[in-house]
Amino acid sequence: LWGLKTNWLGKKIIHKDSVSSTQVIAHQAAQENAEHGTIIIADEQTSGRGRMNREWHSANGKGIWLSMILRPAISPYLAPQLTLLTATVLADVVNSCTTLKPLIKWPNDILINNKKTAGILTEMQAEQDQIQYIVIGFGINVNQKRDELPEDLKRKATSLKIETKNNWPIKELIQEILQTFENTYDDYIAHGFPEIKSKWESYGFKTGKNITIKTLREQYEASFSGIADDGALLVKTKDNTVKKLYSGEIDWFQE
Ligand code: BTN
Repeated sequence: LWGLKTNWLGKKIIHKDSVSSTQVIAHQAAQENAEHGTIIIADEQTSGRGRMNREWHSANGKGIWLSMILRPAISPYLAPQLTLLTATVLADVVNSCTTLKPLIKWPNDILINNKKTAGILTEMQAEQDQIQYIVIGFGINVNQKRDELPEDLKRKATSLKIETKNNWPIKELIQEILQTFENTYDDYIAHGFPEIKSKWESYGFKTGKNITIKTLREQYEASFSGIADDGALLVKTKDNTVKKLYSGEIDWFQE
């Protein structure tokens, strides 16, 4: 049905017309021992979720709403690397399938012309320093027209269709993403994070870019200094100290 040429990713695909959230289905399946590489895809999500408890609009047939169940034998502390890995995969696919230039905004947003086209949500179940499973979900706005985006997102979000004026075949994009993901993941397990890190940096902000850091507790100006080996964000504050951040948001000035 899906015509995948992967070795392990998507050997089992659960496809639903409409679900609350593919993340919810993935957690249920994982708790019922779904195997490494199981994929959940929905045409529509009625309560798709984003990071920081935000909602994720997932209109019927307009985008890719997909969650993957992974059971990597890595330390839970390295799980953020898999989010960054996923971001490079999505950026690679946008880069190779379209003429658009994707930009990754730490940790997980794919921007096109400074507007968000895709986001990634990683949720992990770990016990005693061991990962039971990880669910990585991503949403990609593919075929929405501008007037089909929610009013409050029109200035900040976009879709492949809005940026290219073309409709994109969702199934083929999914095939391309899963194939690229499997290769990149196998490479990561074999060789570690360095290659992912340099690829991520090639799609990321330039070092020195002025950004605003927003955490739950504070907000301040800093400059982007890359990412650390464990996937944390590095920023240089006004007094020239380098800080490592594991959560929060960044905002930036249009230059
Ligand atoms: C973000 O940028 O805040 C992350 C968005 C993640 C959305 C995807 S769509 C498939 C999966 N199911 C969900 O409910 N969320 C993720």
